[in-house]
Amino acid sequence: SGPVGLLVAAGSGSRLGASIPKAFVEVAGRPMLEWSLEALRAAGIGDIVVALPDGAVAPAGVIGVRGGATRSESVGAALAAAPGSGPIVVHDAARPLVPPSLFADVLAALEHADCAIAAARVTDTVKEADPDGAVVATLDRSKLWAVQTPQAFRREALQAALSVDAAILARATDDAWLVERAGGTVRVVESSPANFKITTPHDLQVAELLLRQRG
Ligand code: C5P
Repeated sequence: SGPVGLLVAAGSGSRLGASIPKAFVEVAGRPMLEWSLEALRAAGIGDIVVALPDGAVAPAGVIGVRGGATRSESVGAALAAAPGSGPIVVHDAARPLVPPSLFADVLAALEHADCAIAAARVTDTVKEADPDGAVVATLDRSKLWAVQTPQAFRREALQAALSVDAAILARATDDAWLVERAGGTVRVVESSPANFKITTPHDLQVAELLLRQRG
């Protein structure tokens, strides 16, 4: 069967400083999660499960589930409600600028991997420092990727990867890492830094300007 989209929208968004959950903060006149829903539909993905904060109402035409305490628990809750048996594409509601074509790109890359993730080449030099700020290493930038969503998964691979202790789920900042640690194959699909995640008030201002331009 066809792909199912899981939209994770259950985060509090405390770093944004808003009084309502981040996915419901308005960006260019619509709740943030609506931009990602529109992109999923434009990509031809009609089966969508949204992981929501406690008490939130699901948007029309999607399956709503209550999210978990961590991002990966929210993915697990959404996966449990996913219809059919086709591949899964996970997307953050916090990335409203996603181009619809990126969903097809990551799904196509599943032909050669258990998981395929949108990622942008790193343009800054990245260093590792100890807690005092002393630099211990400078990483080889040419090999580094800043990971985004969408992330596509063969369904069995995602199910197996999520079947681990809550303590491990809590450490996962992306679901692809869970596939890596389970021994699965993960590929990057080159994406633009324009598909950034809204975390801070500055990110929200930039997204507002860009989405207003789209009209
Ligand atoms: O915290 P961060 O910005 O990395 O969250 C990424 C995405 O995961 C957001 O779209 C957020 O709504 C979602 N999330 C979730 N459930 C949680 C934590 C985060 O659905 N418990």
